[in-house]
Amino acid sequence: MKTMTIIGSTGSIGTQALEVAKKHNISITGLAANSNAKVLAEQAVKFGVKKVCIFNEAKIRELERLLENTNIEILTGMDGLCEIASMDVNIFLNSVVGMVGLKPTVAALEAEHTMDFRIALANKETLVAGGEIVMALSKGKNIPIYPVDSEHSAVFQCLQGNKREQLKKIILTASGGPFFGKTKAELENVTIEQALNHPNWSMGQKITVDSATLMNKGLEFIEAIRLFDLEPEQIEIVVHRESVVHSAVEYNDCSVIAQMGVPDMKIPIQYAVLYPDRVDCPTKPLSLTDIGTLSFARPDLETFDCLRACIEAVKMGGTMPAMVNGANEVAVSAFLAGKIGFSQIGRIALSVLEELKNKEITCLMDVFEADNVAREFAKTKIN
Ligand SMILES: NC(=O)c1ccc[n+]([C@@H]2O[C@H](COP(=O)([O-])OP(=O)(O)OC[C@H]3O[C@@H](n4cnc5c(N)ncnc54)[C@H](OP(=O)(O)O)[C@@H]3O)[C@@H](O)[C@H]2O)c1
Repeated sequence: MKTMTIIGSTGSIGTQALEVAKKHNISITGLAANSNAKVLAEQAVKFGVKKVCIFNEAKIRELERLLENTNIEILTGMDGLCEIASMDVNIFLNSVVGMVGLKPTVAALEAEHTMDFRIALANKETLVAGGEIVMALSKGKNIPIYPVDSEHSAVFQCLQGNKREQLKKIILTASGGPFFGKTKAELENVTIEQALNHPNWSMGQKITVDSATLMNKGLEFIEAIRLFDLEPEQIEIVVHRESVVHSAVEYNDCSVIAQMGVPDMKIPIQYAVLYPDRVDCPTKPLSLTDIGTLSFARPDLETFDCLRACIEAVKMGGTMPAMVNGANEVAVSAFLAGKIGFSQIGRIALSVLEELKNKEITCLMDVFEADNVAREFAKTKIN
């Protein structure tokens, strides 16, 4: 029986991953969340885990009360997250949201593993901020990182059975979010509710706002560069409203191989967890005749500042991607708290490029420092 730990288990990806684990009899030994003690405790009891971590220390008493009749060890804070990530299992799934996922990913890569081990990575911010360090560790330790993001899973699937060196480019599809076709002026007054109304995917709040600003596609652009060792020029972003073609790879012979499926994250989650096996998945099959028509369009880089900021940031290199990411995390929280308008998120992302000093990354500390600088900078802009 395979064993797995999940951090971010109470979220959209985490709960779907637990469904996949249940379906395939994967034993769950460790779970973690931020502050949802109730759901975390229910999951911990249901799956019979050994350890749980609640990041928010203020919630530890509540979790202790909920688990008082069990032998489950309770952890907290970043040390707790890293301890869950370092458990000796077959699969570590990182599905927390935000830069907080970076240290646990590194901890999982640095830990001793006595069995066949992989990382299933949903937490894209990990690769955006610390991608060079994480990928070097993954190679050095011979620990594979399998993408959970549907687009990167699609690319990974399209690479199977082909020669990586014969890849010409990848086509990264984007749903376009709820504001596809809108002008800059129209975006000024969109509401939180409208931004949270994604046409195709049901996801956590932060990624849903990122999808509306197209920051999500920008983060994925950077994530793809890190995961597949690509140049920015080798990625074409294509808006595909139906979210059926999850991405594609073009090879030297001009053949384009795409991966398709219904928009259900259980498919890429399961592929990352069980790769190379393709077994029954708790989802609907795809019916192309029901869909009828698939459409493709160019992204609007003029209107969607966040996407432009990410593309520029990765071309600039160094700490710039980490800084754009950190500033965006602060800006999205402020937007969701009603403190800034939707368009201000993009303006803050762009101002990072113009006003903050880029540095070379020599170690993980450089990434954390840059992230802190960007967060403070974004807070100043918001106030
Ligand atoms: N949802 C999708 O379809 C999708 C698709 C592709 C990629 N992703 C990526 O997957 C990641 C998770 O997305 P999501 O939509 O599942 O987010 P979500 O629904 O908001 O869930 C986030 C999870 O992370 C936990 N968390 C947040 N901060 C934490 C902290 N400091 N320590 C420990 N746990 C923490 C939350 O715990 P609480 O519940 O206690 O707050 C929750 O379990 C993101 O990086 C996102 O970009 C998501």
